[in-house]
Amino acid sequence: MMPKALPEYDGKLTCSKLSKKYEEGKYALKDVSFSIPAQGIFALIGRNGAGKTTLVRILSTQLMPTSGTVSIDGMDVVTQARELREMIACVPQEARAIGWLTARQSITAYLMWRGFTGKEARKRTAEAARKLGITKYLDKQNRLLSGGTKRKVLVAMVMASEASILFLDEPTTGLDPISRDELWNTLRELKKDHFIFLTTHYLEEAERLADKIGILEDGQLKALGTLDDLRSKVKYPYSIKILSEFRIAKPKNGEVIRGVDGHLQIVTTEQEANKLSRKLIDKKVRFSMNPMTLDDIFYFIVRKPIDDEDYDNEEERD
Ligand SMILES: Nc1ncnc2c1ncn2[C@@H]1O[C@H](COP(=O)(O)OP(=O)(O)OP(=O)(O)O)[C@@H](O)[C@H]1O
Ligand SMILES: [Mg+2]
Repeated sequence: MMPKALPEYDGKLTCSKLSKKYEEGKYALKDVSFSIPAQGIFALIGRNGAGKTTLVRILSTQLMPTSGTVSIDGMDVVTQARELREMIACVPQEARAIGWLTARQSITAYLMWRGFTGKEARKRTAEAARKLGITKYLDKQNRLLSGGTKRKVLVAMVMASEASILFLDEPTTGLDPISRDELWNTLRELKKDHFIFLTTHYLEEAERLADKIGILEDGQLKALGTLDDLRSKVKYPYSIKILSEFRIAKPKNGEVIRGVDGHLQIVTTEQEANKLSRKLIDKKVRFSMNPMTLDDIFYFIVRKPIDDEDYDNEEERD
């Protein structure tokens, strides 16, 4: 008998020309290709409907791709889904723990379903709850818990499991700032021996936590890399936001973007930013000036710079 070929563990998450088209509707993912080390924290950001949940569901073996391939640590998410599932745990975006179970019962039941003995499951439940600061809620029914605590119960489930790859689809949505901070600390601890793939709308979260960040827009991956890689993609290190109605000429080195609420954002060099800020002070225009944050970079990447005629005004040229 031929020996069974061992999978080639490559320590990477690789998507190759991955597309997903739901039965109704357009492509939710279109030719997404990337490869990242399956370690540390990867944060996927993007607007509502960008395709983040679709990607998470495919990566965590819950949804079939329409075309393309995906492998995690050398294992294919379609043909080797069963093996992968033992290594994976996922908190879906819309997940809810069963209302009439207590938090303790739901975490313990999940762990037993994953193969732990009752004794081990109870021990792991208590340990995870302690780490997440939810011990005092363990014996309450899930339906009586606040939205944020319900979310933490789900995170406790996956962190107590033996899975080394965690998919967390918007884990901190609905958490208060202190709980969010606590969860961030937990994720920082977890990343030492887990690969965490999370999605978030809080760009500060991606900035503070992630080793690598991906920006998904309209089913396509627009950027991928460390925060510094993304910064270098936008070319200009400074951002000025004009908070009141004002028309401005395009700087010689820079771009102008119009925000959804009508404000103007100018990204430019430090020198031009200084020059422009003096001018705005002279004209008593309200503005803020900062080095580019991930928010600015995201905005810059998903929004196109506006056309010249849209904002250009000869009067404002120097
Ligand atoms: N089951 C489905 N059937 C048809 N279309 C779907 C289905 N699920 C998602 N879509 C569509 O696929 C696209 C991507 O949705 P997805 O949920 O992946 O986005 P998302 O980035 O997670 O958004 P959000 O930030 O709002 O959670 C959207 O246009 C959405 O309407
Ligand atoms: Mg989503």
